[in-house]
Amino acid sequence: MHVFITGGTGTIGSAVIAELLSHDHTVLALARSDSSGQVLEAAGAEVLHGSLADLDVLRAGAAQTDGVISLAFGSDHSTAGAVARSIADETAALTALGAELIGTDRPIVTVSGTPWVEGRTATETDPLPTEGPVAGRSRSVNTLLELASRGVRSTAVRMPRTVHNQGHGGFAGLLTDLARGAGVSGYPGDGSQRWPAVHALDAAVLFRLALESAPAGTVWHAVTDEGDAVRDIAAVIGRRLGLPVESLPTDHFGPFGPIFAMDQPASSSHTRTTLGWQPSHPSLLDDLENLQP
Ligand SMILES: NC(=O)c1ccc[n+]([C@@H]2O[C@H](COP(=O)([O-])OP(=O)(O)OC[C@H]3O[C@@H](n4cnc5c(N)ncnc54)[C@H](OP(=O)(O)O)[C@@H]3O)[C@@H](O)[C@H]2O)c1
Repeated sequence: MHVFITGGTGTIGSAVIAELLSHDHTVLALARSDSSGQVLEAAGAEVLHGSLADLDVLRAGAAQTDGVISLAFGSDHSTAGAVARSIADETAALTALGAELIGTDRPIVTVSGTPWVEGRTATETDPLPTEGPVAGRSRSVNTLLELASRGVRSTAVRMPRTVHNQGHGGFAGLLTDLARGAGVSGYPGDGSQRWPAVHALDAAVLFRLALESAPAGTVWHAVTDEGDAVRDIAAVIGRRLGLPVESLPTDHFGPFGPIFAMDQPASSSHTRTTLGWQPSHPSLLDDLENLQP
């Protein structure tokens, strides 16, 4: 397949491009800067210049390819307003891409997060949260999935709290950054709350499988570790950085504090059984051993 991808320079997107190219696909990748274009070319992709805001460019990318993987999302999480702008950009982009594909039966794979469900492990059948700061993302993914009834093979791959590679990335990466800054590897509460995780290279395989074969309107979980206790994550970070490991007040973790304090395990049993996805890269706790002081 000739595949149009946005976010191809990201942690996940760069792994997805490598995965596609090593499985007989070719890639057309959106680049919003010359430097990103150079990275994408070096990775083996053909480059389409433009940003998420250039809806005509997105439509042209979708029109000249056999399928789309949408991963781009603004990286400014500093204020609620910045996140809202990123959500608005992504929503407009998904709307344009989806509209271009109506009636074609071509695939579009997009991304969201695993949901959390009070008192049990979340599964692929649980709905995304449609309230809270990222509710707009859930709504735009749900709208895209509804295009399944209009001749679009739209699917969503849900990401766990940590997508890691070489010990970096995701919530665990934020804990590491905070630990370096504070001189202590902290966790909120008693640290028994669990976060799911996946290695970026395993997640990339799932994006390819969804692109190639997932039925229209379906949702998948890119989860290898159903839930690592946060105090276990903090313990490896502390040991690798040579820092003490302690429970710290929730507000130490800034805007992420309340989310860091939640138990949010997620499973991928349905995904593994149905799509034959078999993650093979290191678990989060093993991958964190790559951290250097
Ligand atoms: N639990 C979760 O909910 C969860 C967890 C992990 C990831 N995700 C999602 O998965 C996706 C990929 O994650 P990641 O970690 O690989 O992301 P990342 O490393 O932050 O990379 C973001 C990518 O988006 C591109 N981008 C950002 N804004 C853009 C714009 N306005 N126009 C065009 N391109 C733009 C960047 O391009 P440049 O090279 O130009 O910067 C980069 O390729 C994101 O949507 C992320 O939110 C969700």
